[in-house]
Order: sequence, then C-alpha cells, then structure tokens
Amino acid sequence: MSNIKIKKISHLETIPVRSEVLRKGKPIESCYFEGDELEETVHFGLFNDEILIGVASIFKTKSNHFSEEKQYQLRGMAVLEDYQGKRLGGVLLEEAIRFVQQNQADILWFNARENAVNFYKNYNFRIFGKPFDINGIGIHYVMYMNFVG
Ligand SMILES: CC(C)(COP(=O)(O)OP(=O)(O)OC[C@H]1O[C@@H](n2cnc3c(N)ncnc32)[C@H](O)[C@@H]1OP(=O)(O)O)[C@@H](O)C(=O)NCCC(=O)NCCS
Repeated sequence: MSNIKIKKISHLETIPVRSEVLRKGKPIESCYFEGDELEETVHFGLFNDEILIGVASIFKTKSNHFSEEKQYQLRGMAVLEDYQGKRLGGVLLEEAIRFVQQNQADILWFNARENAVNFYKNYNFRIFGKPFDINGIGIHYVMYMNFVG
C-alpha cells in the first residue's frame, strides 16, 4: 500500500463501494441509508493513490439498547475485497473512533455482521445482547464502545 489517505466524502461517493461490498447483486436503492444526507452524518473514504477502496459512515443515531446521551452509529463499513485483510479496515475504524471522540461521544454502536465481529473485537468493541437476523443480509450482533469523560 503505497499512499493511503482518509478523506471526508459525500454519501453519493460511498455508493459504489457499499454496493460492491455490502449489497452485491442487490438493487442500488438498497445502498442508500436513511439519514445519509443529514448535515450531522459524516462519510469517510479510504483512498489508495486517489482510488477509493473503503468507506465508513457515522450517523448521530440513538439506539434503544443504550441510555447514553450522546450516541453515534457506525454504518456502511466496507473495504473492497482485493484490499481486505491488510489492516485497512482498521485505519478507517480508527478514524471513525477518533471523530466521535473529538465530538464528545458517550458511545459508538453498530450492527455488526457475524463475519466482522472478530475484526471489531480486535479494536475493543463489545457485543451487546443476542444475535439477530437482518432480512436478506444475515446474522448481526449489536456492538459498542463506551467513552468516558
Ligand atoms: C470487515 C472489514 C471492513 C474489515 O476490513 P479489513 O481491512 O479486511 O480488516 P483487517 O485487515 O484489519 O482485518 C480483517 C481480518 O484479517 C486479519 N488480518 C489482517 N492482517 C493480518 C495479517 N497481517 N496476518 C494475519 N491476519 C491478518 C485480521 O485479524 C482480521 O481477522 P478477524 O476478522 O478474524 O479478526 C472488511 O473485511 C469488509 O469490508 N468486509 C466485508 C463487508 C463487511 O463485513 N463489513 C462490515 C459490516 S458490519
């Protein structure tokens, strides 16, 4: 990996990567998430030599599972297949964590795909509750990280 950079991007720029990695074979409409266009939503793009190879978005969404006041949700975390397993997802995840911490988050939570649970555990996220099925996508776990102070 010669020249890896993270930049903020628009939700429209995330769509090709979301589509390829997270919604393969599904209609393009399924790649748009509610709240994508809100000003408080932030989209990060991971670039290798100016080519977009990964995306992650942060939504200011509250989960009923948690009582914390300032909650952020991670969504649409994806690295193109050719680039997976090279710790690049971790670079994106660390940027997302840094962003919510800078914005005084109490908690960062998300619905993790079963296959990505270990990836998130490596970054000290914990599982909340029991696994559940998201229709057409598969088994997920709620995962979270609390921040103090
Ligand atoms: C999940 C995802 C974002 C992680 O990004 P990534 O760049 O592949 O992440 P990493 O390279 O840091 O880690 C992936 C795995 O490779 C392993 N790995 C990474 N570098 C390694 C190395 N040098 N030697 C051995 N194993 C290594 C990690 O331990 C990790 O394994 P684990 O999942 O069993 O813990 C990415 O794989 C992806 O987009 N997957 C498909 C979509 C998806 O599931 N998104 C998450 C939705 S919740």
